[in-house]
Amino acid sequence: MIFGGKNDRTEDQVEIQCHDQLEDAIIRISDLPSLSTKPPGCILITVLKLLFSTDHCNFSDMEENSDSDVDSDMDNNDNFQDQFLENYNVSQEELHDLYKYLTLFGSQFGLLLLNYREKLLSIKDIPKLFRHEFFDFITSILANDLNWIENLALKEEILQLSSKLISENCGRLAKSDFIRRIKIKYDNGGKKHLNILLQEPSLTEDKIGLKTWGSSLNLSRRICNEFEDLIEFPVLELGSGTGLIGIVLSFLMKSQNKKVNRGDLVLTDLEEIVDNLKENVKLNQVENFSMVKTLNWESPDSFKKWMIKNYSTSNYYQTIIISDCLYSPSMPFLLIEMIKTFFKFNNTLKSRLLIQNPVREGFEYERNTLSGLLNQDEILKTRLKLVRTTTEYGYDDFGRQEFIFQEFCS
Ligand SMILES: C[S@@+](CC[C@H](N)C(=O)[O-])C[C@H]1O[C@@H](n2cnc3c(N)ncnc32)[C@H](O)[C@@H]1O
Repeated sequence: MIFGGKNDRTEDQVEIQCHDQLEDAIIRISDLPSLSTKPPGCILITVLKLLFSTDHCNFSDMEENSDSDVDSDMDNNDNFQDQFLENYNVSQEELHDLYKYLTLFGSQFGLLLLNYREKLLSIKDIPKLFRHEFFDFITSILANDLNWIENLALKEEILQLSSKLISENCGRLAKSDFIRRIKIKYDNGGKKHLNILLQEPSLTEDKIGLKTWGSSLNLSRRICNEFEDLIEFPVLELGSGTGLIGIVLSFLMKSQNKKVNRGDLVLTDLEEIVDNLKENVKLNQVENFSMVKTLNWESPDSFKKWMIKNYSTSNYYQTIIISDCLYSPSMPFLLIEMIKTFFKFNNTLKSRLLIQNPVREGFEYERNTLSGLLNQDEILKTRLKLVRTTTEYGYDDFGRQEFIFQEFCS
């Protein structure tokens, strides 16, 4: 590609001026093409695409020393870089054009882009590292009429990418759809790990099941470490959301060659959530290990009918899993009904109820009511015993979070 404008440095000079000690320097906003140099539309577009943070791993902005860096070596390798470019639709040629532009018109840093491919890919870290400068840069693009760019379609793309970048960086609630990568290190010393992909559409209305919640990551980790002791099949999950726990269970079944029927692991949620849940099961290629069904706790009849038709009873499940499903006053009562309807109470078989909840301020009533009902309900109090309560910490998109895990056995 040929750039117009003043060219007072040659590529040879660029090579000469490269300096080893600056090889490790991080790229900053001031190293990106300044609007005063009137960068071509395609150069701006490449920069904007690179500014998107591709790698939403666990709840990564917040997690320290977490599982999210399990595969950092792998993440930095060429495959990962190729995947990054592919995801963001940036060709090698476009990356090279940006490199050339920066060496000709950029700051001193632009001259020192040894290893330019890796360095340019680190543009994605700018929004996290230099937040204010990043917002200044994007708003300066939005405020500029970009009158040197004649192609209206390019101009429109620049505006769209800039607006999307702003919402992308205004917290999870404003984010558009993306794929979250979950890495779980387990087997005590962390010798094994799981990689899971979860599609999360933008959050509209109050469909909170379209987001993965920290509670499910903590419980998934526990399940990975205690699979044999904690899980009895068949399993029913209530309010599965994006499906992390069920997908983790499927992977564990797969890795241990567990022979179970698809109906022995059922992930459920509201009708408007199950399409995304099904997509996630497919995305992780575990359709053969689990089933996704609609189960609305307020109108469970169709699910119950399906149970009776297939298993001649609704009291079928030996493990019921509930993660972060207590955030309105009616929920404890609804969940108790679900447990009574679908749990297999059996004196000889060990059935389990696993409940993980964030300790959120303002939801004490819901948590206490569920515990009270489990203790006092005429049927449940004689059949379910609380065998473990653990308080632990983890992360969510909104920061560090305290959680309570409870295990009940029949
Ligand atoms: C905070 S999310 C937790 C999702 C998932 N368990 C997790 O931990 O990531 C609560 C889930 O409960 C589901 N839910 C809420 N009310 C429900 C109802 N009446 N019937 C079935 N699911 C419901 C929501 O759709 C959502 O998926």
